[in-house]
Formats: sequence, structure tokens, C-alpha cells
Amino acid sequence: MYVSMKEMLLHAHRNGYAVMAINCTDMEQAKAIVQAAREECSAVIINVSPRQMKAHAFGEIMAPMIRGLAQEVDVPVAFNLDHGSNYEDITHAMRCGFSSVMIDSSSYGFEENVRRTSLIASLAHSMGMSCEAELGHVGQAVEADNTKIDLYTNPEQAKEFVERTECDCLAVAIGTAHGSYPKGFVPRLDFDRLTLLKTALDMPLVLHGGSGAGEDNIRRAVACGINKINVCTDLFKHGRQVMADAMKKNPDIDYMDVNIAAQNGMKDYIKAYMRLIGSSGWYTFEKSTGPELD
Ligand code: 13P
Repeated sequence: MYVSMKEMLLHAHRNGYAVMAINCTDMEQAKAIVQAAREECSAVIINVSPRQMKAHAFGEIMAPMIRGLAQEVDVPVAFNLDHGSNYEDITHAMRCGFSSVMIDSSSYGFEENVRRTSLIASLAHSMGMSCEAELGHVGQAVEADNTKIDLYTNPEQAKEFVERTECDCLAVAIGTAHGSYPKGFVPRLDFDRLTLLKTALDMPLVLHGGSGAGEDNIRRAVACGINKINVCTDLFKHGRQVMADAMKKNPDIDYMDVNIAAQNGMKDYIKAYMRLIGSSGWYTFEKSTGPELD
């Protein structure tokens, strides 16, 4: 099923689990993600950022491909623009056929963030798409040092923000960051703040920077109210490692077989992650009547 994020995240919110949102730049990843969701009877979100779209994963190609894969399975699959920051990129994604968009105006002041988010949320809703927003600011992991508390999301401000923007889910800053943390560094998450945010907002909350956060942090974040976890760096690293291993084992391996190895390796990684965050088993598996995905 090709759907927006709205209903699947409300389901996760009501039932206390989280859905993976995975950055994806090619067919092998898209197939790995959809297959994993089908085998785990889980909802899933596929993310592409404007930078990834411009560099390689063109929206005009990704959207119909992902819609086609999603329509072959009975589990909900959403396709979301990750970190859309300007009108041009967001409306481009809408025209390509994404089912959901994120507007990230978290580097602006509160009023400008409200203004920009409200505009995109109303546009998205008029087209049957969901809208994710960010308040507070999730930074880069290379700069992480567990001290950037002034960038964390303020629960009172968040309540006003959601009421005024009508976004469907909110990315909160509680201590994670995007990318690879310095060696040996494990982020310290502000679970008290997350609990306050969940109580104040009573809506689906999003954790960006899922990579390198550690299983304990991820489990606790879900228990405290996170319903969508964005993962990019760890899965990309894993896919690359599987390819490197396959080529080391057989230096003459066929190009397509390297891709298939990566696809299978990523699928297993995603399935384990889905079990960790509790999204497995909520939807029914019925064998597709269409072409086989694998
Ligand atoms: P990571 O690369 O740290 O997993 O972050 C992904 C993300 O938050 C994309 O929006």
C-alpha cells in the first residue's frame, strides 16, 4: 500500500511503537526496505533528501518506482521528502508523487518556522499528503558533545507550534545528531524532556539521527514516545560493507550479484531494527498477486 505517513504514525502513536524512516537512493535499497516491511508485517517510510535527489536519486525516478513496489505489498509504505527546506524542493517532490513531505525550518526563529511550516502543511494536506516539521534543531554528529541543550525542543513552544502549524508529526531535538559520532561517543538523550513533549503534544514524535544512538537509547526513546526513527548513515555503511565483503570473497563477482548481496544484507539489517523498535507484526502478510519483488 502506498500511503502518507499520517495514519501509520497515528497507529504507532496509539500503540506505543516506532516506524523506521530509511534514507534510500537506489532500487536495491528500495527493494530491501519494502521486502523487509513485508516480511516483518510492518509499516515503513522511505526517505529521500533534496541533496540525495539532486546528486543521484531523482524524484521523477524514485517516486514511481517506490509507488510500484509499495502497491505490490499489503503493508503501508510512505515516501517522504526528508528535510525539505525551501518551497522549490518541496513542491518538486509533490509534483513527483511523494506521499509525504518534511519541512525543516528549524534553523529559523520560532515565528518564521511557524509561518513556513503552516504554509507547507496546508499545501500538503490539500493534496492528501502528510507534513512533518522540526522544532529545536538536530545538528551534526561530528560536532556532538552532549552540551547543545539550547537547541533542544521546548515543550511549551512545541505545543503552540503544533497548534498553529497543524503538522502531522514533529521532529524533536533531544540529543541525537545526524551522521557518524566521533569514535567511542554515545549520545546522552534527554528522556525527561521527551516524556514532557509526549504528554504536552499527544501526537507522533520523530527522532532524527538514529544511527549510532545505541540500542538502549533507541529502546528507551520508543518507550518514551518516539514513533518514527530516521536512519541513514548506519544502513549505508552496512550496505557498503556487505558489498566490500562480497567483492573480497569473490573478486570476479558479477556487478548484479554485488547489488543483490547488498540488497539482502540491508534487508536483514532493517528487519532486525524493525523488531527492536516494535513495528513488526502489526499488519497482515498476504502474498502479492503481482510480480515477485525478489
Ligand atoms: P543518520 O544518518 O544519523 O541516521 O540520520 C538520518 C536522518 O536523521 C535523516 O533525516
